[in-house]
Amino acid sequence: MSGRRWKLAYIRRHEIARDNVQPTVPPESCTPVFGPSLPVGARVEQTLAALSLEEKITMLGGVDSMGIHGVPRLGLQRVWCSDASAGVRNFGPGTAFAAPVALAASWNRDLVRRVASAIGEECRAVGVSILLGPGVNIARVPTCGRNFEYLGEDPFLASELAVSYIEGVQSRGVAATVKHFACNNSEYDRHRMNAIVDERTLREIYLPAFRAAVQRAGTHCLMSSYNPVNGAYASENRTLLRDLLRKAWDFRGIVMSDWNSVYSTRGPLEAGMDLEMPRGVFYSREQIEPLIHEGRVPVDLVDEKIRRLLTVFYGMGFYDRPTVDSSCTVGGDAHLATALEAARQGIVLLKNQGGLLPLDPHRVRRIALLGRNATETPTGGGGSSRVRAANPISLEQGLRQVLPSGCQVVVVADRHGRISGADARRLRDSDAVVACVGFDYRIESESYDRRWRLPDGQARLVRRACALNRNTVVVLTAGGDVETQSWVARVPALLHTFYLGERSGQAIAEALVGANNPSGKLPFSMARRWSDHAGVANYVRRPERTSKRLTLGPRARRLVNDWPAARLERLPRERRDVRYAEGVFVGYRHFDSRDIEPQFAFGHGLSYTTFELSGMRLSSPTMRRGEELTVAATVRNCGCRAGAEVVQLYVEDLESSVERPRKELKAFERVALQAGESREVALRLGEEALSFYDPLTRSWVAEPGRFRLHLGSSSRAIAGNVELEYLG
Ligand code: BGC
Repeated sequence: MSGRRWKLAYIRRHEIARDNVQPTVPPESCTPVFGPSLPVGARVEQTLAALSLEEKITMLGGVDSMGIHGVPRLGLQRVWCSDASAGVRNFGPGTAFAAPVALAASWNRDLVRRVASAIGEECRAVGVSILLGPGVNIARVPTCGRNFEYLGEDPFLASELAVSYIEGVQSRGVAATVKHFACNNSEYDRHRMNAIVDERTLREIYLPAFRAAVQRAGTHCLMSSYNPVNGAYASENRTLLRDLLRKAWDFRGIVMSDWNSVYSTRGPLEAGMDLEMPRGVFYSREQIEPLIHEGRVPVDLVDEKIRRLLTVFYGMGFYDRPTVDSSCTVGGDAHLATALEAARQGIVLLKNQGGLLPLDPHRVRRIALLGRNATETPTGGGGSSRVRAANPISLEQGLRQVLPSGCQVVVVADRHGRISGADARRLRDSDAVVACVGFDYRIESESYDRRWRLPDGQARLVRRACALNRNTVVVLTAGGDVETQSWVARVPALLHTFYLGERSGQAIAEALVGANNPSGKLPFSMARRWSDHAGVANYVRRPERTSKRLTLGPRARRLVNDWPAARLERLPRERRDVRYAEGVFVGYRHFDSRDIEPQFAFGHGLSYTTFELSGMRLSSPTMRRGEELTVAATVRNCGCRAGAEVVQLYVEDLESSVERPRKELKAFERVALQAGESREVALRLGEEALSFYDPLTRSWVAEPGRFRLHLGSSSRAIAGNVELEYLG
């Protein structure tokens, strides 16, 4: 059997195994031979000298799905990894926090840090030293099956929140793993989709969050992606791994492969890949030893990788502490409170015609609930990030908790968007209808892209509900944008709730009755038409075709990787290459620059109160190289209930020598205010906020000239702007 075929067969077996894996934590703790009295550098060098080549090679490949080999002879215990960004997945139930896209909707750095720190603590409680998150791939197309696992469409927002996330996890002594490097912007055929991206677009859109993770947050690990980028697999892409990550960004941490995404031995070894996960197939003795003995790979290359692993492991104290930290807990009141807070702040009120929301709990006598997501809890999307929550709260349960006892909650079933006569009467006779539509972990998941339209006749269901009852509220569950044009005009109130984790039902119920005032803002744009999204012109024509696999049942999910290699090679380039021809015009950069009206703009989100943003001023009308300035303004809560506003600052280059997006987000601040309260916000801006990436000089350039700074509450709701002269 050829290496490649063997690999494919292995993947098949492995995928089946992984879904059922429960890694066990060895109870024994080892005492390292080279102890903590020595400096880390000395421990690393002495260990390296003591390891045999065989031991070193063994350490370059994972074990038991989520482990990294230890060396018991030297007192080095196994190091365990776990998914992922919404909670700890692989070691039994954990707290299911809001999905990263919902965290992004909070625009709240501090909240993201708190969530990540709680996840870090749960890692320690179950013996995990490396968390396989956060994922920071940009939402390029709305149907990417994993958009829910990422931080939206904007590189600045994603960078800021990735930094908070990584700092939060690492504050608990757990290494974070920023992933998937790079351009894993869709799941459709992810082992084969070759992203063709120009350098400026890479630097301005797809890489900033990775760079911030490395240079600002000091992430200890990075995971490469499945796909090729500009013709070379990410796991052996020298431009990305060696030239950029190692040399330009000076990344000293560990590069690990995504699970089964190494496709050869020498390429990844030389490009800078340290660890093949979940097992050393190409990083095995059979593959590496002959290369060393024939002098084709220097042993130093192996040493370099071991040095990086040991530096992180000794440096973080992984070898010096018991695997399980019994002072840490999984779940518990504090983590559930953080999960609830994240769920509350992730909710985006997209529309609230006539002030239908909040419902007055003392006036509403009967609420009808529609849709599967009302009784099941869509805690997260599907795939490797799905956390098994111990006690998820559904919306039905949440409503029963927040409503007074006299209020009835009735659940109405539909058959593919159709409602029976008796049920229609129940909807008509209710004071309000809450239609829970959208996706769930089965149909929005890692491994395949999802459809653009709502599934299961839900658009029809919404239209029917609105016809029967004008107090219909739609609660949308999705990791990104979805078709709304065919029903949104009839709906008076709409909430985007993404995937809010295990406290989802409670947070949504509180928002419906006004016990929680929504404050989330969209971290991506919502379009009127599918074709309004720039990326879809350069993407597979029918992404939902992959969801055909769903109809085959759970087994089908594992068939994703099973295309025989020969079939891949026969694929014409046009069926493998995804040209990112829209360049930097992704999301609102495209909508704004091409004057396309979005359905709901990036940064949009309503509240039950109103805010006023006024008095915008600059600390100086000019800026010189190396200087920083401050943009100040006053935010006032003009309504009669507490709420939070996100003040957003966008920069427009008025005199650029290259085509640039109309405006780009460069600063933001979330401000919580009591009724009637005002607060000054001060946003800092440096010259990097004025720069674009110039591929000719291979550098960031801020060109002297005029810039306009826009301050607002969304990318389209701009309250004021001022000009700035950059003097260079
Ligand atoms: C995913 C990664 C994940 C890994 C381990 C892969 O399928 O792409 O994000 O960390 O599995 O479960």
